[in-house]
Amino acid sequence: MKRKKIKKFPIFCIVLIILCLGFGYFRFFKNNNNDKKIKQTTSNYSKKSLEKMDDLKIKDKVNTNLYSKTLDVAIFDEYFQSEYVNKYEKIDYVDIDNFIDFINILLDRSTSVDEISKIIENYTNCPNFNKYNFERYLSYKEKNSDLDYQDVVTRVNIKLDKEYYTDTEPVKDPDSLYVVVNKYNYLDANFIPKNLKPLFNNSGVTMVEEAANAYKELVEAAKNDGITLVATTAYRSYAFQSSLYNSYKNKDGEALADTYSARPGYSEHQTGLAADLNDPNYSPRRLSADDYKWLKDNADKFGFIIRFPEGKENITGYQEEDWHIRYLGKDVAKKVKDSGLTLDEYYDLYLK
Ligand code: DAL
Ligand code: ZN
Repeated sequence: MKRKKIKKFPIFCIVLIILCLGFGYFRFFKNNNNDKKIKQTTSNYSKKSLEKMDDLKIKDKVNTNLYSKTLDVAIFDEYFQSEYVNKYEKIDYVDIDNFIDFINILLDRSTSVDEISKIIENYTNCPNFNKYNFERYLSYKEKNSDLDYQDVVTRVNIKLDKEYYTDTEPVKDPDSLYVVVNKYNYLDANFIPKNLKPLFNNSGVTMVEEAANAYKELVEAAKNDGITLVATTAYRSYAFQSSLYNSYKNKDGEALADTYSARPGYSEHQTGLAADLNDPNYSPRRLSADDYKWLKDNADKFGFIIRFPEGKENITGYQEEDWHIRYLGKDVAKKVKDSGLTLDEYYDLYLK
């Protein structure tokens, strides 16, 4: 056994030496070939691209021995800017629509060429990226550098970069279960939801039928757990919201009233999908800590979310309202809860 091993050793060494030499030769040959390639072609730009550079009178500015895909694309792009030729050359190419336009916007803002591709990728990778909002994303990110790119995109899409009650628009789907009514999206003064049903016998407190049925189940389940919840207000007409808001405005002034009451047309209560809950056995506030804990843990099982949670005031535009629930159906209510997002954000990302 031992003798055999000794015999094999020199053969193994010879094979190893041959392999090393072969590998070295291959590398040398390959490099040589690459050198040849560059020398032979003098430029990796196509004839058509070189002609285009001639037309644009930029050929003397371009290093045609070094190929830049970004520059090659830019020269045929409608947004090509000749003053940025040498910057295009240094920017890594990203295969997305409007790439050159986005580059120009960033160059106009004096962004370093080394950062541009990554920034564009970070934004365009967001599923709800909207090319028309690109400049607004950049401005918002400048003022809110702690936010990640996804949050910037979502917040700008829901218009949080604009003053509340500016650039408002009518909601397109007022009867949808997922309708979003907020400080930028309003309901028509004449809008009344279909199928409004009383929440308890002969009461004027009503919701859209599906939400009213879910409300009854929620209240029943809470009762079984020793929690008493009653809706004091649910659907509100435009006229009622108007008198409510105006009374708050007269009492507290517009700025403060706006933090807790919606202007007429801008209240989710007009959808017939929202309700304000109260615990009649508890007086300092509408709900006790136990009531709220129960609601937070269980509302989604009946299709509701807490619409204006603590810590989200700068997104919802309202002070915390632990009592205000919004119906979305069990599936979406659970998803919104699990996402930790407000309805405004979740809608922009997943429901739009
Ligand atoms: N209190 C809520 C925001 C409303 O007025 O609709
Ligand atoms: Zn409410």
